[in-house]
Amino acid sequence: MFITLEGPDGSGKTSQLPALKEFLQDAGYEVVLTREPGGTPVGNQIREVLMNLKNVSITPRTEILLFLAARAQHVEELIRPALAAGKIVLCDRFGDSTLAYQGFGHQIDLDTLQMLLDFSTGGLKPDLTLLVDVPVEVGMERKRVNSTEWNRLDAYTLAFHERVRQGYFALAEAEPARWVIIDATKDKDSVQKALQTAVTSRLGGG
Ligand code: TMP
Repeated sequence: MFITLEGPDGSGKTSQLPALKEFLQDAGYEVVLTREPGGTPVGNQIREVLMNLKNVSITPRTEILLFLAARAQHVEELIRPALAAGKIVLCDRFGDSTLAYQGFGHQIDLDTLQMLLDFSTGGLKPDLTLLVDVPVEVGMERKRVNSTEWNRLDAYTLAFHERVRQGYFALAEAEPARWVIIDATKDKDSVQKALQTAVTSRLGGG
């Protein structure tokens, strides 16, 4: 089963993932935890280019192609083999990040993006996507406090991040069977519990 976590910056999703992995392993599943952009040696090199504060000249089109290049490598080298071996793949961001950030955020044509996305993934889609949601101001404040995490992509405006968040809601609404929205303004333990409940229900066929 392929499970992705999505959400605006500062939602806290990344810090929830190790505990969710442990929960699934304790239940007897083999789990691969990975992230985008990244997940492979080539993907991590692309991640560095994307995140580097010095790369202010990257254009939106270049940015898209770099995210997609990292994803193509990730799908073929890591995700598909793990799924074929019967493992659960838990992925911190995937294709929906491209639609939310580049599509809704940068307002690049969604149909074009979807076509490029299908090319990069070979049509692979998550079975379950957990939207770890926080209001933009809350997410930005969390990131600002933890300044080591601040990167080039966080420098976009509040309006950009608001479009991203609304974009996620639109994507979730379009495919309600795949998405579960988690309120991440709650305390860390409650958010973890909600994630575990959503995953358990899906694994049980619910
Ligand atoms: P993260 O470490 O917070 O997940 O940072 C990844 C950043 O990259 C985040 O701001 C979202 C952004 N992103 C995109 O804009 N498009 C994508 O396709 C992906 C995977 C991430």
